[in-house]
Amino acid sequence: MLISFFCKKGGVGKTTVTGEFAGYLTTMGKKVLVISIDDQNSLFEMFGLSSKVFERDDNYLEHFVADTCTEEDVLIPLRENLYGVKTLNTDMLSKKLTLERSFERNFVGAIMQLQSDFDFVFFDLPPSSNRTTEILLERTDLLMLIVELNKLGVNGFYNTLQYFVDNDLPLEKIRYILPNGYSKTKSVPGVALKELKALIRDNVPEAVLLPLMPDKTIIKSLQQKGVTVFDEDVSKLSAYEKSQKRTVMDIMSDIYDTIEIEF
Ligand SMILES: Nc1ncnc2c1ncn2[C@@H]1O[C@H](COP(=O)(O)OP(=O)(O)OP(=O)(O)O)[C@@H](O)[C@H]1O
Ligand SMILES: [Mg+2]
Repeated sequence: MLISFFCKKGGVGKTTVTGEFAGYLTTMGKKVLVISIDDQNSLFEMFGLSSKVFERDDNYLEHFVADTCTEEDVLIPLRENLYGVKTLNTDMLSKKLTLERSFERNFVGAIMQLQSDFDFVFFDLPPSSNRTTEILLERTDLLMLIVELNKLGVNGFYNTLQYFVDNDLPLEKIRYILPNGYSKTKSVPGVALKELKALIRDNVPEAVLLPLMPDKTIIKSLQQKGVTVFDEDVSKLSAYEKSQKRTVMDIMSDIYDTIEIEF
């Protein structure tokens, strides 16, 4: 099964939510792959493994598609039963996919080969729209949008819907919408949530609004330390961080449990 969280706006939590969901599924005994289509490869940072991106320069997704590296080479272990794939240059990849028809076959074939060895494959998509994103959104089985709960975030959500329409991607494909950055004590997220609900009602009424992801500083702190919410090893954390991590773990489990996936 291919899973993507998307939003055309940058910095809304795509990589965070994707990496954590992948980790969550491994706690349920699943074998999971996250393919970073974003050549920033920030996915590896949250697992404390950014060094893996630069360790070798011959095992990017592009090398696997071109058949110059093996599946064993391209898969970078992140955790037990969890692997990542890095991308060298999203723009170049998209250019090649636009100009060469045969390359699209190779690209999709490579993704399918990887998929056959995993229970779930996530695409960590870049915020920009490009041919690579289009091809993968089309093929994604479970598509979710993330919306940052502020004015720009809601605009980003609207732009994303517009992008679907412009690219002949059916809006019905959007199964879930995850509002990120909620806070009870601030007024901005509440106002944005109201606007978001109205936009959902008018444009994608079939989409399910997931439980709210709160704005929690611990999410950033954990990423700085390369520890994820579902990691069992908490030796790098203070007592306060451990308790905050448990709170976020409960919240994220709630969100991820709401998403119906076939096991
Ligand atoms: N609920 C949250 N509470 C606090 N911080 C958050 C939350 N969600 C995400 N962040 C932080 O926001 C920043 C951006 O998150 P992330 O990198 O996941 O977004 P992105 O959509 O993948 O960005 P990009 O468009 O650059 O790929 C990160 O520093 C992350 O730790
Ligand atoms: Mg990202």
